[in-house]
Amino acid sequence: NIDQKVDSLLNIMTLEEKVGQMNQYNGFWNITGPVPKEGNAKLKYEHLKNGMVGSMLNVRGTENARKLQEIVVNETRLGIPLLFGFDVIHGQKTIAPIPLAEAASWDLDAIEKSARIAALEATAEGIHWTFAPMIDISRDARWGRVMEGGGEDTYLGTKIGVARIKGFQGNDLSAPGTMAACAKHFAGYGFAEAGKDYNTVDVGTTTLYNVILPPFKAAVENDVKTVMNSFNTLNGIPATADAFLQRDILKGKWGFEGFVISDWGSGKEMIDHGFAKDLNDVAVLSANAGSDMDMESYAYVTHLKEAVEKGAVKMSVIDDAVRRILKVKYELGLFDDPYRYCNPEREKELISHPDHHAGVLDMAKKSIVLLKNQGNLLPLSKDQKKIAVIGALANDKNSPLGSWRLASDDNSAVSVLEGLKEFSSEITYAKGPDLTKGPLTFINEVEINETNKSGWDQAIALAKESEVVIMVLGEHGFQSGEGRSRANLDLPGLQQELLEDVYSVNKNIILVLNNGRPLTIPWAAENIPAIVEAWHLGSETGHAVAQVLFGEYNPSGKLPMTFPRSVGQVPIYYNPYSTGRPGPIDLVFWSHYTDESNTPQYPFGFGLSYTEFGYSDLKIDASNSRAIKVSVKVTNKGNRFGEEVCQLYIRDRVASVVRPVKELKGFEKFGLKPKESRTVEFVLTEKELGFFNGQGDFIVEKGAFNVMVGTSSTEGLTGSFELK
Ligand code: IFM
Repeated sequence: NIDQKVDSLLNIMTLEEKVGQMNQYNGFWNITGPVPKEGNAKLKYEHLKNGMVGSMLNVRGTENARKLQEIVVNETRLGIPLLFGFDVIHGQKTIAPIPLAEAASWDLDAIEKSARIAALEATAEGIHWTFAPMIDISRDARWGRVMEGGGEDTYLGTKIGVARIKGFQGNDLSAPGTMAACAKHFAGYGFAEAGKDYNTVDVGTTTLYNVILPPFKAAVENDVKTVMNSFNTLNGIPATADAFLQRDILKGKWGFEGFVISDWGSGKEMIDHGFAKDLNDVAVLSANAGSDMDMESYAYVTHLKEAVEKGAVKMSVIDDAVRRILKVKYELGLFDDPYRYCNPEREKELISHPDHHAGVLDMAKKSIVLLKNQGNLLPLSKDQKKIAVIGALANDKNSPLGSWRLASDDNSAVSVLEGLKEFSSEITYAKGPDLTKGPLTFINEVEINETNKSGWDQAIALAKESEVVIMVLGEHGFQSGEGRSRANLDLPGLQQELLEDVYSVNKNIILVLNNGRPLTIPWAAENIPAIVEAWHLGSETGHAVAQVLFGEYNPSGKLPMTFPRSVGQVPIYYNPYSTGRPGPIDLVFWSHYTDESNTPQYPFGFGLSYTEFGYSDLKIDASNSRAIKVSVKVTNKGNRFGEEVCQLYIRDRVASVVRPVKELKGFEKFGLKPKESRTVEFVLTEKELGFFNGQGDFIVEKGAFNVMVGTSSTEGLTGSFELK
């Protein structure tokens, strides 16, 4: 039994060896090259040899992993294998759509499969552990990391987080194709003030318990092996040193048995927060609060031993942390064979496997959301003549890979232009101006081109002589992600102007959006006849977009985040509380803007299809208050097969803590042939009808509930029932 093995090992470990297990370093030198002789790399190398490192991140490739593993296995006293972690966020070499795009599929099986593909490739490169899924709920499109999550809604985001964990971890963690997952960032990171990355988070108990924490609770219930804490302060306490979050809730109330890793340097950043005075303080505060492993703060490795010797940290704290870490290593099978993920043949066979490309293509198609299709401009006929494709992003093979795809090859995506050309010989391309001034990478600052109009006239001339124009506009893949907060959400640079100029010569425009977050596109929404939300769809982007534009795949995605009309509306989300003055009334004294509507551009859950779905026969049976039954008939009224996401929302009319105006509590995605109908049934139990009060207790209250079932968060059949 693993617990006994862990305990026997723990019994023979010195304090120094225990502290070593709690230390994680970034990959530090060209591992297969000469051993480092100086500086930080030398220090890390020495630490590795002395058993002072338990885990490494950003080491990949079986050769590198084996080389490092050999050092600890052969040269340290106990030979405890290293754990290799990596940000496997949406694929390893074969890249899937960014997580926000995948969320738009509302297809949990497809999302789970996508995570499994990522796990297969990552483990084939020697990696044991992914720092994913990010399950931070966020309602702020300015925050660049919304691309990495499941959107604004807790119910949907929770289901998606669980699907990803299952995909990564499978049923047997020691199997070669599965890896430990990491639910991050605990907690509140998605609520950074003003959407600015790393910023202060200050939220009340209702939001904390009902919006932020439930995905993490579900992750624990689904056996997630690790949790990452967070850079931010939450209500005045840095998450890394938050004992209430990590000890009382996570490990206490929820009984989490895995281990907690800090975020990169989030320990030492507590000095800048004004919470810790030095690294010694960092070590004491974080370890005592339940942060088990230190990523790149150097706090544990330099100060924890002494802190224990001085009595500032109890030995039981160290033992608890190390026990958790060793357990995950055992579960991964690393003690049976430290090299079980270091098989070069497997690496060769699995990396970029054609099945993985088929899988991410399927995921990419399902992630596309049709936002507008006036006059059925889409789908294009295969005989369509004179198609212009305009926009720098159309011919970009790097941008579609999105942010957080550290192991992929640059420029390895099928571009939109390439995909379209496979479908039609009528395509002519004009790039128009560059989007940015120079090349973009994961780490450099974005420099938008706002002046250089080269290529402008050719683009306009091409549009003029074409029958239809496909404009590919939006954000480069590296314009969202960590450190990529934006104060404006419009089309960056010269793109809006280009769009309007093209429109002045040809109104038959299909706008294909590439972006990692909701954008504000009021002019396009008003004027452009067809708009397709294509996010950053990964390696197979061009094929997916072409299949949708030419009607080979009928789009079925629904927005996982509200699209605002203007940035001043942010945070805008579908499930706020009602104010006391919801309006509208004639006078000025109600909750609204004087210069902007209250409604979004596109609501949560919204997405069109090339066919049309009708809803009828809403039935509610509340005779059994433990299982309220809601059913509805959905009919495909059009002439082609299509998939619909039928969504159920409730509102608890009166409660001891006010409840949102609506809350998603069920959804089902299914396909219907032309004229076919299906009755969809939902069952509402205490789980869906209750909520957390200010003390974090889950309660269910009697009374009236509204129900809406339909095609988005704003369109559906309504009814009500009384919970007895
Ligand atoms: O996993 C990430 C985290 O989400 C942000 N900071 C760096 C970590 C490791 O790369």
